[in-house]
Amino acid sequence: MQALRILQVAAEATPYAKAGGLADVIGGLSAELAAQGHDVRVVVPNYVELLPDNLRLHPVGDEHVVEIAGSSITFSFVRAEASPGEPLPYFVHCPDFFGTGGIYSSGEEEAQRFLLLCRAALQLCHDVEWAPQILHCHDWHTGLSPTLIRFDTRYSRLFATTSSVLTIHNIGYQGIFQRRVVAEAGLGQVAESLHGDVKPDDVNFLRTAIRHADAMTTVSPTHAQEIRTEQYGMGLQDDLNRRAHRLTGILNGADYRLWDPVHDQMIPARFGPGRLTGKATCRHELLRELQLDAPANVPVLGMVSRLVDHKGIDLAALVLPEFLEDNRLACVILGDGDSELVAALREIQTRFPQRCGFVAGYDEALAHRIIAGSDLLAVPSRYEPCGLTQMYALRYGTVPVVRATGGLADTITHFDPDTGQGNGAVFLDADPGGLRWALNTSAGWFQDRGDWVRLQANGMAADFSWRRQAPLYLRLYQRLLDGVRH
Ligand code: ADP
Ligand code: GLC
Repeated sequence: MQALRILQVAAEATPYAKAGGLADVIGGLSAELAAQGHDVRVVVPNYVELLPDNLRLHPVGDEHVVEIAGSSITFSFVRAEASPGEPLPYFVHCPDFFGTGGIYSSGEEEAQRFLLLCRAALQLCHDVEWAPQILHCHDWHTGLSPTLIRFDTRYSRLFATTSSVLTIHNIGYQGIFQRRVVAEAGLGQVAESLHGDVKPDDVNFLRTAIRHADAMTTVSPTHAQEIRTEQYGMGLQDDLNRRAHRLTGILNGADYRLWDPVHDQMIPARFGPGRLTGKATCRHELLRELQLDAPANVPVLGMVSRLVDHKGIDLAALVLPEFLEDNRLACVILGDGDSELVAALREIQTRFPQRCGFVAGYDEALAHRIIAGSDLLAVPSRYEPCGLTQMYALRYGTVPVVRATGGLADTITHFDPDTGQGNGAVFLDADPGGLRWALNTSAGWFQDRGDWVRLQANGMAADFSWRRQAPLYLRLYQRLLDGVRH
């Protein structure tokens, strides 16, 4: 295959800015595509305080000034250093929009920030005279870029032969704003092109991308089917069904450069298949760190999650107390998000101070220590486009307990002690009974040394690497380039 020029545009990318799995996917996929010889450039905002301190940044091109909602906004570009075989990361430097602390904000400002990102990514290509063959955008934040390369005459020539790909990581977030924000961001031509895409007054960034991208993917084959239904389509199922021939599901990969206990420096001891002493050390240290007390025959259940409704955290909060009460589980939870969920988890921690550790907030290293030191990892999601923590857990000999949805269904199969097949516990219904059953079942397996060793070995042997998954994107890119446009 010929080397391709691929532009990835996203709100997050590991190791520069991360709120969840989107960042891991941009980082891991881009690294693998570049390692396979492609010219990959990644554009993300320069969230000023968030970039790692050791990054050496270089300015690129001139400053630009744009009028957005009556204010003059200045932006420019910086790039980090990259060796051959690595993706080239560019950052949109715009302190007015991206210097405010977090990755996400809210309200209309959010539309303006991400419209700027879309536009700036194209401006960058223009400035460095680089026309990508593939523009790959992700989620609603960058959803207007496929429209921009067609309808904004400032960019349409440079991108005349570019094919666009939208990956939907989370259909629950669509970017719905008053339509005037597009025109107010200096994108009047684009606003005109949205006739028929939008309600009279609203623009839905994700829906616009679904209508205009040359191809669409979501992050697991099962979820690609789910989002075409009323239950999971979040109102976009008709748009997706209309263009279903352009929609595929490509399972995410795991970035084993960062998530592998054989070389993970964030955990207290290294371990791997067949040599699990280090895992026992990780468990011991995790319990000590959180001042928990769990005898060796009680499994430690971990959770690392954004605390939002679709993750099913409320189900866990309902069911966990009975297991903690009977000393059938200990648990360690790390999460950031919804204040009601935080309060519910805090209450459990207060009730069972020696059995339940809860850390509210975002902590990358603690996430590694929990995934390494736990015996079980719960992901009881109502919907889960892919989910990465269950894949990471497998690599660390931690047994996932998941609901059968999206990528969880595509990666975890229910263990059968009779055949020794399977890598986790899978429940069907997103209700307390389902989770209770799965926790009971998996806590039972933990009591049988033979079953447990087999389960861990099955998980650790799985390969969900980007080395295997990135070629599926390459095949899609190539199909587009071989298609009508050329
Ligand atoms: P989502 O993208 O929906 O949040 P994923 O399972 O795809 O779910 O990815 C979650 C990623 O974010 C994982 O890398 C996980 O370790 C990380 N993560 C989630 N919450 C936290 C947190 N509070 N602290 C540190 N890492 C977190
Ligand atoms: C989203 C989804 C998650 C997926 C991640 C990366 O945040 O909620 O399931 O793994 O994106 O694609």
